[in-house]
Amino acid sequence: MQYRDLGNSGISASVVGLGTWVTGGGEMWHGADDAESLRAIDVALDSGINLIDTAPAYGWGHSETIIGRAIRGRRDKVVLATKCGMWWEDNRGSFHYHLDGKDTFISLHPDTLAIEIENSLRRLDTDYIDLYQTHWPSKEPDFTPIEDTMAFLMKLKDQGKIRAIGVSNVSIEQLEEYRANGDIASDQFRYSILYRAPEADVLPYCAQHGIATLTYMSLEQGLLTGKVGMDRVFDPNEFRSNEAWNPWFKLVNRPKVLAMLEGWKELTEKYNCTLAQLVIAWTAAQAGVTHVLCGARTAAQAGQNAAAGALTLEAADIARMRNDAVALGNPE
Ligand SMILES: NC(=O)c1ccc[n+]([C@@H]2O[C@H](COP(=O)([O-])OP(=O)(O)OC[C@H]3O[C@@H](n4cnc5c(N)ncnc54)[C@H](OP(=O)(O)O)[C@@H]3O)[C@@H](O)[C@H]2O)c1
Repeated sequence: MQYRDLGNSGISASVVGLGTWVTGGGEMWHGADDAESLRAIDVALDSGINLIDTAPAYGWGHSETIIGRAIRGRRDKVVLATKCGMWWEDNRGSFHYHLDGKDTFISLHPDTLAIEIENSLRRLDTDYIDLYQTHWPSKEPDFTPIEDTMAFLMKLKDQGKIRAIGVSNVSIEQLEEYRANGDIASDQFRYSILYRAPEADVLPYCAQHGIATLTYMSLEQGLLTGKVGMDRVFDPNEFRSNEAWNPWFKLVNRPKVLAMLEGWKELTEKYNCTLAQLVIAWTAAQAGVTHVLCGARTAAQAGQNAAAGALTLEAADIARMRNDAVALGNPE
């Protein structure tokens, strides 16, 4: 496993991070098996992963609770990253979505953050969080100025409740404003070989300013592992059925992806690795990328993904994979 700095926080985190959205279960992931989730976290930690990313919103606290159970007795071995700003206890904030029977709001106001931090610490069974990230930016009508959010987060840092502050899903302008109001160690956003938009702005910006980047959906929620064939049907409530977010899952687009993956068989043979590992290694090798978050439903997936942290691809192969992905064009 390779380890890289989380910006200027002084924290060193594994290049492959364990993503735990799926651990929360619920409609979006068609449930999750807690015993298997606990095994996945065990295997991840035993395989050199120390970065675990979660959020209160993943299963309404369930993902955090499972992680709290899994890391008991070895808290010091983990770089624990959670988030704030998705709120469902009452209707403070700006409406975001309705899921699992709950109205969810975005609120980055100190009032709700003060409750959220205590809830996360309790669920994670810890007295500090290594990386505390704003999940989504504040929005109208109940907009909270970044200055107010950051003043509160910096106070949490001074109190030792969090060690570093990160942001997620922000524009460059928002990131600049966050940085103008305190220390920002990391930025988390969607990035994969099929979703390269951050190469135009966020990735170079973060590289220039020494901000760690935590990429998400880099396996395109399993599509890039090769396991999603033409016959795989997802429940309509699952996130993978959301065509706006996951256009490559549409049956009209899937064959192109599957053909590209088929062509990479010579690479998986050359490196003696799986497609998931090849794709993770490609992602970790891109300019500006420091950490790749990989969701794992099972212990086998977690172990396989962790091993990609030791895989280095030759420059010609990295370029070839990019060319293949670019040749697919945009999804319909
Ligand atoms: N900040 C944000 O707004 C945001 C948004 C999205 C994600 N994230 C974070 O980023 C993490 C990663 O994103 P993600 O979980 O959505 O997507 P992902 O990592 O691209 O995909 C995870 C899914 O891929 C499949 N998978 C993973 N490894 C595999 C392997 N080795 N072999 C076969 N299948 C494998 C599993 O699917 P099955 O379930 O079918 O087994 C797993 O649930 C999340 O868990 C979360 O921590 C953050």
